[in-house]
Amino acid sequence: MKIIFDCDPGHDDIFALCALLAHPELFDLLGCTTVAGNQTVEKVTDNLLRVLSYLHHKVDVSIGSPCSLDGRTFVQPVAHGESGMDGPKLPESNFSVTGLDAVEWIYQTIFDQSSPVTIVATGPLTNIANLLSHYPSIKSRIERIAIMGGSLYSGNITSQAEFNIYVDPLAAKIVFDSGIPITMSGLEVCHQAMILHSEIERFNTKGKASKLTYELLEFYSRFAKHLGQPGSPLFDLCPVVELLYPHLFTSVDLFVDVETQGELTCGKTVGDVRGWADKSKVNAKVLVDVDRQAFIDVFVENAGMLDKEG
Ligand code: BDR
Ligand code: CA
Repeated sequence: MKIIFDCDPGHDDIFALCALLAHPELFDLLGCTTVAGNQTVEKVTDNLLRVLSYLHHKVDVSIGSPCSLDGRTFVQPVAHGESGMDGPKLPESNFSVTGLDAVEWIYQTIFDQSSPVTIVATGPLTNIANLLSHYPSIKSRIERIAIMGGSLYSGNITSQAEFNIYVDPLAAKIVFDSGIPITMSGLEVCHQAMILHSEIERFNTKGKASKLTYELLEFYSRFAKHLGQPGSPLFDLCPVVELLYPHLFTSVDLFVDVETQGELTCGKTVGDVRGWADKSKVNAKVLVDVDRQAFIDVFVENAGMLDKEG
């Protein structure tokens, strides 16, 4: 499966990256693109380059949008720290970016492939919306967009909206309206895909990737502890594990739209959950549940596989 990974690392974005790198038998990672989200685009790109260099995985990295389609920036240092990936102290990267803007790089890369590409998007959808707006003919070459974002019921950054969609609702609307098959890992499934605080010790080993994961989780879990939660939702890992092991998940096919105006609901994904909804409008496979224990085992195994690479 040919993959482009669009992200804003971000602790959990790195868990998703490790899952992609740990499974070369399934994933052909063509490259990564970055977008402003958890932190500025400069910071999240630096985080990504440091991790790739530390793990000795050289893949193309291209810098994307520094702000949402309407020009806003909104970062969240509370959950991810001032760097966007506080915790591990990784050396500066030996790698650099391609020099192409993310949208140009994605377009060129998809265009060069002989078969369709799957996009995994774990940040605000600004780059993907720009791609679809500037190059609408690319749609037929995109197999699926696997998104972490949105929710059917309550939000996290506001009472109604999930962070990635809230940051750029106009972009999210373009993506959900695109007609490209979408898998949506919203808050419902992500809150099931939770690592309990006691389970973090499973990564306390000498392996390189496990050590990195452990240090990321130590910082990342502080926020959930502060909220009084028994563990941390592994948001961005969900879309990648679903591509690997779809049988672990329960999903519903729905028509999902995005609220871009509402005074109280801006950035909310609105899923038509009515049993009698018009099925011809369905645009998303929405994940709603997961076998939590199996999911955590996959998370631990991913790091173990990368550890073996040395
Ligand atoms: C999403 O927001 C970010 O904090 C995470 O990386 C994830 O993509 C969860 O709402
Ligand atoms: Ca993210």
